[in-house]
Amino acid sequence: MIRLSTDGGGVLLRKRLKFSDDSTRGQSTVSNVRPEYFVVTYVINPWMDPKSWARQHQELASASRQEWSALNHTLLDLGAAIELLPPVHGLPDLVFTANAAIVLDRKVLLAQFRHPERQREEPHFEAAFRSLHARGLVDVVRRLPEGLVLEGTGDCLWDSARNLFWMGYGPRSDHAARYAIEDTFAAEVISLELAESRFYHIDTALCALPGGEVMYFPGALTASARAKIRDRVAPSHRIELTVEDACRLSANAVAIENAVVVSRCSRYLRAKLAERGYRVLENPLPSFRRSGGAAFCLTLRLDGRSAMMSRDVNEAAVA
Ligand code: ARG
Repeated sequence: MIRLSTDGGGVLLRKRLKFSDDSTRGQSTVSNVRPEYFVVTYVINPWMDPKSWARQHQELASASRQEWSALNHTLLDLGAAIELLPPVHGLPDLVFTANAAIVLDRKVLLAQFRHPERQREEPHFEAAFRSLHARGLVDVVRRLPEGLVLEGTGDCLWDSARNLFWMGYGPRSDHAARYAIEDTFAAEVISLELAESRFYHIDTALCALPGGEVMYFPGALTASARAKIRDRVAPSHRIELTVEDACRLSANAVAIENAVVVSRCSRYLRAKLAERGYRVLENPLPSFRRSGGAAFCLTLRLDGRSAMMSRDVNEAAVA
């Protein structure tokens, strides 16, 4: 369980202010799917190569289970509670739970996928969220309007420091889906057009850290998307990734308080994050990279809170 220290020491206090975003106050809850049936059998992004997977299927399948278990242990060590959703045979990409939905303030907006291969996941994710609802873990489960495509949190990242969503669109999500996000969560959405096929979801190229830094790969974005980031994020808070780190999928990171869990990252990036008070935990996930994914997209935070919601919760707690 993550508990914030009650010690009033100077350094701790500074850290507490910097890292006490609402999604990290109290226990973080993450939903994951075991990679029982994980494999690369189709191509919907440039990382995927079914032939090369098939040549080493046994080794890669068992490596993926080990990598995933190590990630789960890392998250548990960081105090996260993990809700496991059931894996389904024949749906290998179900492990990427970030694509299941957008979740904020106990509301869920279910994803609709671009490709038929992943559209088959939709009823399973819907059933999983209906059961979380029945268990009282979330309050509202909503569907998108028919025909609109939006691939969940993979394309819609909550920035708790700015109280807004960074939404990616183009390859996998429709720009028009931003209105459904605004309408469901009553939150501001900054939409960023993606420009490079390897970075087909915004979570492959951008990460909003709890202390307000935005780590991103400019080469994944159009000029106008880059300008929107510059407008919103002060230079001191922009961490630009090199193409090498971008290709290690370093932006696909899970941040819990000041820990940043990544599949891989350069010493240079590690040092840049350390300067800002972050502790990088490397948890290699090379077999998932073969599908175009890494740490962030193997998880989905269920405990994100907007500023308004956390104020209500805090007021109720002291009342
Ligand atoms: N093979 C999956 C796909 O192309 C990988 C998804 C990774 N998810 C993410 N949010 N980046 O859809």
